[in-house]
Amino acid sequence: MIIVLIGYMGSGKSTIGKELATALEYSFLDLDDYISDKEKGSIAEIFKTKGEIYFRRKETEYLNEVLNSSENIVLALGGGTPCYGKNMDLIINNTNVTSFYLKLSIPLLSKRLFTEREKRPLISHLNSETELLEFIGKHLFERNQYYSKSQFTLNTDHKMKQEILEDLVVHLI
Ligand code: S3P
Repeated sequence: MIIVLIGYMGSGKSTIGKELATALEYSFLDLDDYISDKEKGSIAEIFKTKGEIYFRRKETEYLNEVLNSSENIVLALGGGTPCYGKNMDLIINNTNVTSFYLKLSIPLLSKRLFTEREKRPLISHLNSETELLEFIGKHLFERNQYYSKSQFTLNTDHKMKQEILEDLVVHLI
């Protein structure tokens, strides 16, 4: 089984994913890290030297690779992964996959992302929390149509890690 965690940048996909994998004794895989390893460079470097289109092509290629694995995996996607090509269809049509959208409100996302925006090429140019808030609002409006195709949506606002884990596990039994 592959458990796929979906959500905007900063929504906790990797943090929660690692804990879920440990609890279930599954392997944990972060798609961004997988791409970085395979491409031998950070996501910011790939965007800078090869461009976003190249990154999106590789993202789809490696997503396919991981989804074809027969291992038990918790997979944290990149925030944009479900929104390009047929990626979201691949996820929801795969009978081995259970997908979760970790949904966090725009103000909480922008608060969390403002200090971490350096390593994220899509938001690193934004200079104030207000600009970031506005950007996320528009961006999420476009992306929600993909995220909301997930099998389960979990509202994670003001929830502790343990609570989110419990919410996830309930849907897996
Ligand atoms: C992106 C999110 C990032 C990374 C890349 C693009 C996006 O992943 O894949 O910077 O389009 O939202 P995280 O969601 O892990 O930050």
